[in-house]
Amino acid sequence: MLKQMAKTTMPSALKFELTARCSTTRARASILQLPHGTVQTPLFMPVATQGSLKGLTPEQLEATGCRLCLNNTYHLGLRPGQEVLDTIKGAHALQSWPHNILTDSGGFQMVSLLDLATVTERGVEFLSPHDGTPMLLTPEHSIALQHSIGSDIIMQLDDVIATTSADTERMREAMLRSVRWLDRCIEEHSKPDPMAAVEGQTYASRQNLFCIIQGGLDLEMRRECCEEMVKRGTPGIAIGGLSGGEEKESYCKVVKACTEMLPEGKPRYVMGVGYPEDLIVSVALGADMFDCVWGTRTAIRHPQKARFGNAITSSGVLNLRSSTYATDFTPIDPHCQCPVCRPLDSPAPPLLNSSICPPSYASEGETYTAKGMGITKAYIHHLVAKETVGAHLLTMHNVAWLLALMARAREAVVGDRFPAFVKEFFEEWYQGDR
Ligand code: GUN
Ligand code: ZN
Repeated sequence: MLKQMAKTTMPSALKFELTARCSTTRARASILQLPHGTVQTPLFMPVATQGSLKGLTPEQLEATGCRLCLNNTYHLGLRPGQEVLDTIKGAHALQSWPHNILTDSGGFQMVSLLDLATVTERGVEFLSPHDGTPMLLTPEHSIALQHSIGSDIIMQLDDVIATTSADTERMREAMLRSVRWLDRCIEEHSKPDPMAAVEGQTYASRQNLFCIIQGGLDLEMRRECCEEMVKRGTPGIAIGGLSGGEEKESYCKVVKACTEMLPEGKPRYVMGVGYPEDLIVSVALGADMFDCVWGTRTAIRHPQKARFGNAITSSGVLNLRSSTYATDFTPIDPHCQCPVCRPLDSPAPPLLNSSICPPSYASEGETYTAKGMGITKAYIHHLVAKETVGAHLLTMHNVAWLLALMARAREAVVGDRFPAFVKEFFEEWYQGDR
């Protein structure tokens, strides 16, 4: 049973302003004001699960252009834990990150990472990976942890079933339970915030709760879920339960069915999506925000994965471990303006210049900008299997490249040339396959 409710609007700590719409697709561009600064959509958000993006310092992440990254409630809740987070007053201070943070609620990670997690109406039960003690993550606890983290966007706890599951009854149970859990999350989020500047203000005045639409590949179930969740008036809306190995056509049908039902004036976030071609298609279907670990995982050596050393470029993904690149002295992507691909003598952003000695301290004849061709494919090839800096450079490029792809899409929407941009993107992207 779901709570019968009339349409409501929750308080929010964001402002979402649509700045352009494509006239032939559903693509849109917006300015999204959040508590730790303003970002623009379409937007890719890199994943810094433990409060760090694999191999990068917060300064390096900032230099990629990222102003909104993801952390995970499950990981930060286990370590460093709520007490440490409360003492330091949140994850921004913990990781010295002055920009925005979005946290996923934790349930999805538990169910996908731990074989022993079970979902009941109370919450997600699991055994602590540290000492095996039984633990329970309820919607209330997930929200309380996200309050301690202090993230700018917090996600409801949801019940996620693989889209490939044929169990329609369990899928429906998960969809309805996700709506009931949203009600419990809203209640927890509506409590007075002890850190509020104005007495009696709730957490909702400094953190934005997003609901998550579930319902697998069943479009009717998705519509029912959209209708119920939209009524609850959260400041933003996510589409979950995708990117789990379903056919691209089914994926597109679900995103389309949802975006058609969602209010125009709120940000739409498709969770777990980050392959360049999926990002572009999803933008065309009216989605605004995305996250994915792929761009960073594919760069770095992983104990269970054979493939690493992959660079994302306009003409597809290149594996820089291949000997083809041993003598390739060109940047990873000649069109990329990231701190890795940019030639050393081109202007660096102010942040990178901060470690350069001011001219008045220079000894005579010393130059401040090393002339050169910047980081080349040959250099990454040389480093990537042995030296960690190779993986870090590649991670920085991949993150910056995905951020820039969304910036290109946004500019195309604003310039009323999105369909032409999509055509050019795909022609170039599949160039390597011909
Ligand atoms: N990450 C990718 N998909 C999902 C989802 O459906 N729910 C949550 N909470 N996180 C996700
Ligand atoms: Zn680059």
